Amino acid sequence: MDARPIGVFDSGAGGLTVLHECLVTLPHEDFTYLGDGARLPYGPRPLAEIRRFALEIAGYLERQGVKLVVAACNSATAAALPDLQRTLSVPVLGVIQPEARAAARATRNRRVGLMATEATVASGRYEAMIGAADAGVEVVPVACPGLVPLIEGDDPFGEATVAAVREVAAPLKAAGVDTVVLGCTHYPLIRPILQRVFGRDVTLVFSADETAREVAETLARKGIENDPGREGSYRFLTTGDPDAFRSMGSRFLQLPIGTVEQVAVAD
Ligand code: SIN
Repeated sequence: MDARPIGVFDSGAGGLTVLHECLVTLPHEDFTYLGDGARLPYGPRPLAEIRRFALEIAGYLERQGVKLVVAACNSATAAALPDLQRTLSVPVLGVIQPEARAAARATRNRRVGLMATEATVASGRYEAMIGAADAGVEVVPVACPGLVPLIEGDDPFGEATVAAVREVAAPLKAAGVDTVVLGCTHYPLIRPILQRVFGRDVTLVFSADETAREVAETLARKGIENDPGREGSYRFLTTGDPDAFRSMGSRFLQLPIGTVEQVAVAD
């Protein structure tokens, strides 16, 4: 038995979609979630800067004594996953590979759309990973710079979000994709808007449940699971405003959020 918690991080609240699935899949494990609210959004930043932030945050979680780190942020996964895996002494999982595999499996016409931040699109990681699963799949990427601020804003389900989704969906619909990867952990939070704009015939792929399954498999493979008979707990840290995180988090986690601690992550 390994009683250490699992660390999960994101630039903000989007990673709560992944944490939610982890809490459901692994109710006996403890989790520490860290949102980098002070530096949100990551998407418009250069990949090198996002890599530095990811290394600071994951290093902080490692010093807190976690047994595994989940980069529940596509921009951080795109910019830093190999560096995180090389630098940390605990296993590190990202969110791109599970989605890429699921998209290659889901597409019928082998045309896959990608909605993601500018950084994730610029990294080319999805093309590489989907191509590794099926080299015949064409990936049509579209950067969505406005979506994360809208989702973290006051009215995530409002008209401005619907208009922004219509705008980014247009080139993907024109390209005839039958599958769209939601390549940012924030986007599943507005899934009903996305599904309505794309229509029922388009399969939306996102990483939360696949990632939670991969966490469970990794814990089992490494023999670092906690006692399955216990009830796990979870705690929240943010580099930003704890009150803002709590109101955002309770809206999207759909589970109680207790105290949120403010932390500084740099060494
Ligand atoms: C962002 O902070 O811009 C979104 C992070 C992500 O890519 O999941």
